[in-house]
Amino acid sequence: MRYSLHVNGKVMPADVDADTPLLWVLRDTLALTGTKFGCGAALCGACTVHVDGLAKRACVMPVSLVGGSQVRTIEGLGATAAGRAVQQAWLDLQVVQCGYCQSGQLMQAAALLEANPDPGDDDIDKIMSGNICRCGTYHRIRAAIKQAARALAQTDKRGAA
Ligand code: FES
Ligand code: FES
Repeated sequence: MRYSLHVNGKVMPADVDADTPLLWVLRDTLALTGTKFGCGAALCGACTVHVDGLAKRACVMPVSLVGGSQVRTIEGLGATAAGRAVQQAWLDLQVVQCGYCQSGQLMQAAALLEANPDPGDDDIDKIMSGNICRCGTYHRIRAAIKQAARALAQTDKRGAA
């Protein structure tokens, strides 16, 4: 089947079987390898992307269900204010250890801030709990999300002034 996917603001053609998971279309067909494979069963969060702004596990989403939705991957995350804020906070706080889980962590964190610009510890823990980090960077992730939220609030204030 031929699909025209909307990925990171571009239309990208993909000729793949209808049941191919979006993850493999992104990685193998579109060469967007920043999205990672961990479990293949929606249990680890390594493959998290945004579909119409919501965090989704690409490993269990058949490409046939994507339709005309807007897909965003880690390669396009810097195009959004929340994406830039989490990227900067991740760098400032040196969140990353081995890095394998981190594109999924960043995508999940940006989606959290889009939905809740001022998350508390419980909000962060609840939303981020499905993103596993074998290196145990959870404390730095939580701190970075809070820093990104503060930075976004400052940007909003400046925009409103
Ligand atoms: S690879 Fe998709 S959730 Fe683990
Ligand atoms: S940074 Fe190594 S698995 Fe998360």
